[in-house]
Amino acid sequence: MIETSYKKRLEQVKTFLNNNDAKLISHYYVDSEIQRLTEDTGGCVADSLQMAKFGTQQKEKNLIIAGVRFMGETAKILNPEKNIYVLDKDATCSLDDSCEVNSFKQFCEKYPNREIVVYANTSAEVKAISDWVVTSSIAIPLVENLASRGKKIIWAPDKYLGSYIQDQTGIDMIMWDGACIVHEEYKTIELKKLIEELGDCEVLVHPESPRSIIQLADVVGSTTKLINASKISKSKNIIVATEKGIFYQMKKLSPNKNFIEAPTEGEGATCKSCGRCPWMHLNTFDKLMSVINQKNEINLNEKTIVHAKKSINRMVEFEDKYYQKNKRAS
Ligand code: 13P
Repeated sequence: MIETSYKKRLEQVKTFLNNNDAKLISHYYVDSEIQRLTEDTGGCVADSLQMAKFGTQQKEKNLIIAGVRFMGETAKILNPEKNIYVLDKDATCSLDDSCEVNSFKQFCEKYPNREIVVYANTSAEVKAISDWVVTSSIAIPLVENLASRGKKIIWAPDKYLGSYIQDQTGIDMIMWDGACIVHEEYKTIELKKLIEELGDCEVLVHPESPRSIIQLADVVGSTTKLINASKISKSKNIIVATEKGIFYQMKKLSPNKNFIEAPTEGEGATCKSCGRCPWMHLNTFDKLMSVINQKNEINLNEKTIVHAKKSINRMVEFEDKYYQKNKRAS
């Protein structure tokens, strides 16, 4: 019954995308049905960097981004000639919201000799006043490279990812005070207890989590890195400290493993997000079927696009060179 209704929806989405010369691109955190529809229609489900790169290689005039708003903005910056649609413009990100462009500008003006490095989870305007954009998949090698050239940086907006980068690279960093409402809620004592109870387990953690959670991890990394780690892990039990949407890919790759959410509630403490990003959750089938209209289109001014594109492209070029070099070395 469920499969019949999925098949019906799949046909509807295929027809819709064909009729509108559109391609669907989704993040690993959206609901499993949207991820599945994306894969079955030849689209791409990926981490935030690969979503951006995939968009630039498509022939379709319209790109539909299932994720949060900054992902749609990144697609527009890299493909200004295309029409970019998001399923819900209210799908924001607590990190992006924490870093308002004028306040950030004033903050940066206090440290004129530092390179400005920002996380992809920021607005197009913040990217436009930055030197570098990074995603979690490339942050460490890129910042290591800056450190090796004696650079000092301003980092925004995620203080937890920032401390992780600083711990790994030793770079001199001034940090903005932002956090992701999902990752910030993981509970250290409860996670320790769970690890003890399970015995045979592996702990996978996204670096937007607090340091005390990262310290308990077997693997720390981007959504792609965590999915790969879950696949090659020899453990039967995998504890995952990142947004629940990712379980769909992990379970598909390893149907016989147990995937367990890292605890978000502790003694006397309750969770607000409980491992679920409220904005990723706004991406639904009904919204997808009516996405092509003005109210969902991402529009950015030209100057913002030109400036933001420079700092995103620097990351993409760095990533291309970095992986070419590492492939040659391996
Ligand atoms: P990734 O770049 O690892 O996909 O993470 C994106 C994100 O928004 C995490 O909260």
